[in-house]
Amino acid sequence: MKLKIISTFAAIALLTSVHTMAQKTLADATKGKFLFGVAVSMQQVNGANPIESGLIAKEFSAIVPENCMKPQPIQPEENKFFWDDADKFVAFGEKNKQAVTGHCLIWHSQIPRWFFVDESGKNVSPEVLKERMRKHIFAVVGRYKGRIKGWDVVNEAFEDNGKYRNSKFFQILGKDFIKYAFQFAHEADPNAELYYNDYNVETPAKCDGIVGLVKELKASGCRIDAVGSQSHMHMKSPSLDAIETSFKKLKAAGVHILITEWDISILPSPYDGANISSNFAYSKEMDPYRDGVPDSVQQIWNKRMLDVFNIFLKYDDVVDRVTVWGLSDAGTWLNGFPIRGRKDYPVFFDRDYKRKPVVDQMIKMASKYKSLK
Ligand code: G3I
Repeated sequence: MKLKIISTFAAIALLTSVHTMAQKTLADATKGKFLFGVAVSMQQVNGANPIESGLIAKEFSAIVPENCMKPQPIQPEENKFFWDDADKFVAFGEKNKQAVTGHCLIWHSQIPRWFFVDESGKNVSPEVLKERMRKHIFAVVGRYKGRIKGWDVVNEAFEDNGKYRNSKFFQILGKDFIKYAFQFAHEADPNAELYYNDYNVETPAKCDGIVGLVKELKASGCRIDAVGSQSHMHMKSPSLDAIETSFKKLKAAGVHILITEWDISILPSPYDGANISSNFAYSKEMDPYRDGVPDSVQQIWNKRMLDVFNIFLKYDDVVDRVTVWGLSDAGTWLNGFPIRGRKDYPVFFDRDYKRKPVVDQMIKMASKYKSLK
């Protein structure tokens, strides 16, 4: 009898722990260490597929908009703002009690042409561009004042060689466009955190360029809280050493680190960057997993995920957020980049919205980790 009662209790305890394990999310496991976020599309905000919206609400503690806050969608014509999507996006995060990041204020891509030219199509003067930046930033940051945790103020201003990208902003205003953007954003919402965001931050020359920028911004009295390392990764690159070295450099420069757009492509790549204008021709050899990923390859991807996640945990004193760029393999931007029409498997939910087994291992890893915070 006694034995029966004990074994019943043991069974209940086991079931409860299995249930708790099944319920636990990466957001739970990383609580107190860093936020765990996801980029969301408007279809997801609008609940087009309730499974997706439900998973976003349940599994993540932070969100960032995949597109709706960028200059093109939000101010397609001068002084004509389109707020509907961004309003819904911010309300969605508030409803789910998630930290909401604004992405992004100033970027050379997804920006309407009017921003840089006058009626005759010629480049505007530095004064006019600066004023357009000010108005744009004041309007967007001002509208959501107090509701956005932090902004990606400037996105992708560097080339991989550490030189400034020769964007229209740079051509017309020189590198000072970055300083102006940070100043305007801070004036518009003094309590919002402000970030510089880029891809391939692990590339030494680029990292050094960004560190130089951080120092200059700080020296001129600008607020900069963190550098966003997009972390669009591949199976082999960047190396774990390169990731860690970039963290050390940023930490020494006195800024925090955000992993802003994490994904690990499982496909062969002709290109290591995230410059959306780079596209390459399709071939079957470059799209090897149309019918599924062989277990041996999946295991390598899992290990890579765990190795990289381990570094994020190791630096949790300065890493404030880890955000995945997209919920599921079905919707990842990598199905169309840098080669259109492929089938990639770079994030944590598969095409049937099943959470990948590696997430349980990550949860275990995070739960065991003693935080440095
Ligand atoms: O909204 C239009 C729609 O009206 C039109 O019919 C359709 C036709 O192609 O295009 C739609 O716009 C697309 C937009 O996503 C919204 O879906 C653009 O063509 C497409 O280029 C755009 O891609 C986005 C890309 O940024 C643009 O640079 C991706 O979804 C988005 O994931 C990606 O995100 C960037 C980060 O912001 C910055 N870091 C790199 C990252 C990946 O490229």
